[in-house]
Amino acid sequence: MPATVISGRKLSKQIREELKEKVVQLNAKYGDVPKLVVVLVGDDPASISYVTAKEKGAKYVGFDSELIRKPESISEEELLSLIDELNNDESVNGILVQLPLPKHIDVDKVIDRIALAKDVDGFHPENVGNLHVGRPALLPCTPKGIITMIKSAGLNISGMNAVIVGRSNLVGKPAAMLLMNENATVTITHSRTKDLASHTKNADILVAAIGRAKFITADMVKPGAIVIDVGVNKVDGKLCGDVDYEPISEIAGFITPVPGGVGPMTITSLLENTLEAFINQKK
Ligand code: GUN
Repeated sequence: MPATVISGRKLSKQIREELKEKVVQLNAKYGDVPKLVVVLVGDDPASISYVTAKEKGAKYVGFDSELIRKPESISEEELLSLIDELNNDESVNGILVQLPLPKHIDVDKVIDRIALAKDVDGFHPENVGNLHVGRPALLPCTPKGIITMIKSAGLNISGMNAVIVGRSNLVGKPAAMLLMNENATVTITHSRTKDLASHTKNADILVAAIGRAKFITADMVKPGAIVIDVGVNKVDGKLCGDVDYEPISEIAGFITPVPGGVGPMTITSLLENTLEAFINQKK
């Protein structure tokens, strides 16, 4: 039987309708709505398309949103002082600096500068640390979206073997932590892992976040597995994930498509985080 498709697009639509209602209620209570500011440096086409989708999502649910574009030539100092301004601006609840940044800018310095309470990406090391020790934190958007998707299919993560392919700070590492918090048994694999398939074949949940088109092949997947594809690759001008979708959808139990899977859910998680940040700041 072919896998059940977990549509991030459909789920996002549903959650965004709920967020829209919450914004109306918050506006009635506070006379104010959440404000998200997205900072984009340079004009990388992929980044432009991501930030456009983020802004559109924010506007749709009734947030105030602003896109601040700066040229590739902006100095590190100028970017840091822009972040200071946004940190000090009480009307701004969430700040997101789109990555990657130009090489002359130290990305760690930029992330460290964003006020903890406004770090809606969940990238600040203190947010990351809080997540690791089980304290309240704004959660990184992609891993948060992955958990929401799995739960939306009515699946209980507890006790499952979760195998993550990829160890990035943005996805692999925080996904491991969130899955462990759901009582999964977690294995993180990466480019140096020996006999990768021996791990992935054990996965009840397989998260592919390697950034290589169709890297996960059908022989690496356990029948009935939940396959989460984080990849966004372009092959011959067409978007495709890290998972070889067609053959794997014949053996997996659940699968997320690309496009229309994890991507929209990342943005939906960002909207949830912005609403959470707003509420925390009003307290
Ligand atoms: N670039 C690719 N993904 C992301 C993300 O989730 N947040 C930010 N800020 N930049 C990104």
